[in-house]
Amino acid sequence: MGIGIAQVAATSGCSVFLYDANSAQTEKSLLNLQKTLGKLAEKQKITIEKSEEIFNKIKFCTELSDLKACDLVIEAIIENKEIKTKVFQNLEEIVSEKCIISSNTSSISITSLSAELKNPERFVGIHFFNPAPLMPLVEIIPGLLTDKKLAREMYTLMENWGKVPVIAKDVPGFIVNRIARPFYGEALRIAEENIATPEQIDDAMKTLGNFKMGPFELMDLIGIDINFSVTKTVYQDYFYDPKYKPSLLQQRMSEAKLLGRKTGKGFYDYSEGAEKKAPEKNEELYQTVFMRIISMLINEAVEAKRLGIANDEDLELAMQKGVNYPKGLLAWGKEIGFENISETLQNLYEEYQEERYRQSPLLRKL
Ligand SMILES: NC(=O)c1ccc[n+]([C@@H]2O[C@H](COP(=O)([O-])OP(=O)(O)OC[C@H]3O[C@@H](n4cnc5c(N)ncnc54)[C@H](O)[C@@H]3O)[C@@H](O)[C@H]2O)c1
Repeated sequence: MGIGIAQVAATSGCSVFLYDANSAQTEKSLLNLQKTLGKLAEKQKITIEKSEEIFNKIKFCTELSDLKACDLVIEAIIENKEIKTKVFQNLEEIVSEKCIISSNTSSISITSLSAELKNPERFVGIHFFNPAPLMPLVEIIPGLLTDKKLAREMYTLMENWGKVPVIAKDVPGFIVNRIARPFYGEALRIAEENIATPEQIDDAMKTLGNFKMGPFELMDLIGIDINFSVTKTVYQDYFYDPKYKPSLLQQRMSEAKLLGRKTGKGFYDYSEGAEKKAPEKNEELYQTVFMRIISMLINEAVEAKRLGIANDEDLELAMQKGVNYPKGLLAWGKEIGFENISETLQNLYEEYQEERYRQSPLLRKL
């Protein structure tokens, strides 16, 4: 993620200092960036001069102390609270008092990271989506101790970097990784119960919902282990709320190292010559699958609205610009009818008698 963020900053003219504890990684990342910029120039998306200019804006650093002159540090190292905290504490001794310190963490509380600093007010979450140069969304997350003005300043900076920023509360998963959970979780549940196959579920979501990828295709792309780990973190951090309960099927897939594209096999087979099975189309089943997953997603968006995790506009933007949803979920709910979403969830609740299907108290009021 680090090199992607560096590319974004350098493209908008910032001088970037790139540091990784493993300098071989920095070298590899810079080589990859050179290739990416070369391809962009070849496709005439940017001029050769611009590609050189971007590359020359990035300075390869071998010591953390090389970041001394920075006005803003965006940390994108390993997702481990202790390691991140150590780096932030070291940074505090190196950078000026005015320097803003931020983290690209996907799952660690911003408040908990900031609380370990001498000056927590200058700390904020700046969460990019992968690949950072291509995905427009950036979630800005002020923690409880963050200076109130800082989130707005970072919002403007991200706009200047050509991004679509949104401001999110410091809750597990922030906006996107929280609201999107049922896209995977409910799909896994339907497959586990042998109601529909992964191929059918993907096909239903693409044909009825216009999603670019189905849940299983997307999990294979993200990495089944990564997706499983995000789900586990959100579940734990919401004090084991049954809504976010992880799937046993996903755990078994992770254990078997059937992780998706990166291992050549996940829910689909990516080995050479492997043929993708065509799903057996079934209109009624597809409608059931689609309504079940979309109702869970809309319910999450409505609950996020109720809790003020972000304003309506940001909630809608986040899902479209961070994970390519074809529509904002609140608008989608209105289109399908919130009463239909509520009825679908009520039927699931009655069938399974599980908290998983509880409705946001706001859903029936919309
Ligand atoms: N990969 C994604 O899709 C994604 C999306 C959004 C946010 N994030 C977040 O971005 C961060 C990085 O994720 P990634 O996928 O790029 O990880 P990665 O494992 O690919 O890269 C992490 C890098 O950090 C370096 N590193 C480890 N400890 C270090 C230290 N003490 N000091 C300096 N460098 C150190 C490693 O050498 C490695 O190159 C994580 O916090 C992750 O949650 C990742």
